[in-house]
Amino acid sequence: MCGIIGFTGLKQAAPILLEGLSRMEYRGYDSAGMAVTSPEGLLQLARVSGKVAGLYDRTENGAAFPGACGIAHTRWATHGAPTEANAHPQVSMHGRFAVAHNGIIENFAALKKELIEKGYAFTSQTDTEIVANLLEDSYRGDFQEAVEKMLARIEGSYAFAILCADHPGELFAVRMNSPLILGLGEGFNLFASDVTALVSHTRRVVYMDDGDYARVTPDEVALFAKDGSPKALRETRVNISLAEAEKGGFEHFMMKEIFEQPEALEKTIASRIRGGEIVLDDFRLESESLKNIQKIVITACGSAYYAGLAGRYAIEKLCRIPVDVKLASELRYEDPLIDGRTMLIVLSQSGETLDTIAAMKECKARGAKVLAIVNVAASTIARLADHVLYTWAGPEIAVATTKGYTTQLAVLDLFAVYAARQLGRLDEEEYAAWMQKIRELPGLVRKALALEPAMADLAVLLKDAEHVFFLGRNTDSALAMEGALKLKEISYIHAEAYAAGELKHGTIALLEEGTPVIALCCNQALLEKTASNIIEVKARGAKTIAVAPEGAAQEVLASCADRCVFVPAADDIFSAMIAVVPLQLLAYHTAKLRGCSIDKPKNLAKSVTVE
Ligand code: AGP
Repeated sequence: MCGIIGFTGLKQAAPILLEGLSRMEYRGYDSAGMAVTSPEGLLQLARVSGKVAGLYDRTENGAAFPGACGIAHTRWATHGAPTEANAHPQVSMHGRFAVAHNGIIENFAALKKELIEKGYAFTSQTDTEIVANLLEDSYRGDFQEAVEKMLARIEGSYAFAILCADHPGELFAVRMNSPLILGLGEGFNLFASDVTALVSHTRRVVYMDDGDYARVTPDEVALFAKDGSPKALRETRVNISLAEAEKGGFEHFMMKEIFEQPEALEKTIASRIRGGEIVLDDFRLESESLKNIQKIVITACGSAYYAGLAGRYAIEKLCRIPVDVKLASELRYEDPLIDGRTMLIVLSQSGETLDTIAAMKECKARGAKVLAIVNVAASTIARLADHVLYTWAGPEIAVATTKGYTTQLAVLDLFAVYAARQLGRLDEEEYAAWMQKIRELPGLVRKALALEPAMADLAVLLKDAEHVFFLGRNTDSALAMEGALKLKEISYIHAEAYAAGELKHGTIALLEEGTPVIALCCNQALLEKTASNIIEVKARGAKTIAVAPEGAAQEVLASCADRCVFVPAADDIFSAMIAVVPLQLLAYHTAKLRGCSIDKPKNLAKSVTVE
């Protein structure tokens, strides 16, 4: 997953391209580059391996690259190692075309063979270089015609920024399965993978659809559909502030976003509980259509998958509809038992995760109705779904999701109570009681944030650990998975989650003297059971940390666990949203003690738009 940006206008392009890359570095940061047309019509190219800072140096903060039209790219490597030669923009053999690309060209091998037979030489291992040479091979003086001919030949997922040295001031933007947004200005126009790269220049944006391409000049943006027919510009206004994209006084985006959770949850919940009922935007599920649903399948990847595992309990408990939670990367290939009586719920913070998109398309093709729960407006998943419920968490920049996860839980909880009411499983009084419990959740999360100092202390116990185990039952086992992922993806400590009842079936053999074991005891109905697991592992030398609701058998836990963390009490089916907060804080402080790159962990990117 990469970040691309193009600018053309009256100002110098290079500083604007650099600033845009800096705002998109969370999308991928193992190499970067830019191409700017000089006032004399020369194509100036700079590429570095490593982060965008290297490009600032190479171009003297842009000053060494005069010109008012250019493209730039920050990369998360797919084809080819993160070297300078493989960095984008990739340039055609005779230096006429430069291309920055986010995605994968699936038929690149055949095209490369064809171009080599025509005499083209290649200098990189990338699929993108094929696109640059295809453009050159198709070019007879007309830039747009060359773009259209190239697009007719390639297959796969892509967002392109394309520059041609023979056409100074003119760029092409192309979107297919990778995000690209046009920014409209006065005397300039630009486009980028992410709106945070546009907002400091304009708030007037156009979200491109898959298949769209646009000719962009300083005075005009001409948009075309995949078939070449002109499309009107559906302009919308972006209302996020730059502050939202900045760190807001915190050292890392991740901590900012952990502390934004109460506000994000308020935004996600409050506007959907009004007039004594839950209103899920324009999503309406009449009781008849709900009764026709044979099962619900939730599909996602990573933390979104773990949110599905946790949210499942609320839906099954209140609606009594079977819920399957499936990894998208598995669901797409398992010839799934999905039909018109299946409701598919897709969870994704970015709305661009390729495996999740592919699984969604597979299930749609089999007749499933799709409800998407996403955080990024007009993202690919949002646009493909039959219904969308946004999590309204605001931009999430840190690679490790926090507010994205908890707001997904909030929407699942709202859906569960809404659907249970529609199905007649809740009477008025029960409905009101459950709504009130959901309303209280943001405040309980705010209270849980007060645990930060305690979690910073506990991080000392973990920082030198080689292995850490997270245990839990029922809702706590789903939470354990998210807790383990948070820790491993930012501190690089091996962490695993186990259903507490599974310990004796093998895992307990792994325990060594001093191994940290975090036991989640927030499901109060099963607390005693998990407490006995704590005793089991402690007897084998584990350092035990229990996470439990305040007041819940505190003396029992205090007598068996080495350390206890007490969180605000919530109903079992909502407890993951509260208890995840200390686990997020523990992961953050452990990673910090270990000197890890918290917002941009190694090998990871914010949204995985490749297979
Ligand atoms: C979570 O901290 C990770 N960054 C990762 O597992 C992420 O949840 C996963 O890639 C899914 O991303 P999405 O929600 O944007 O689809």
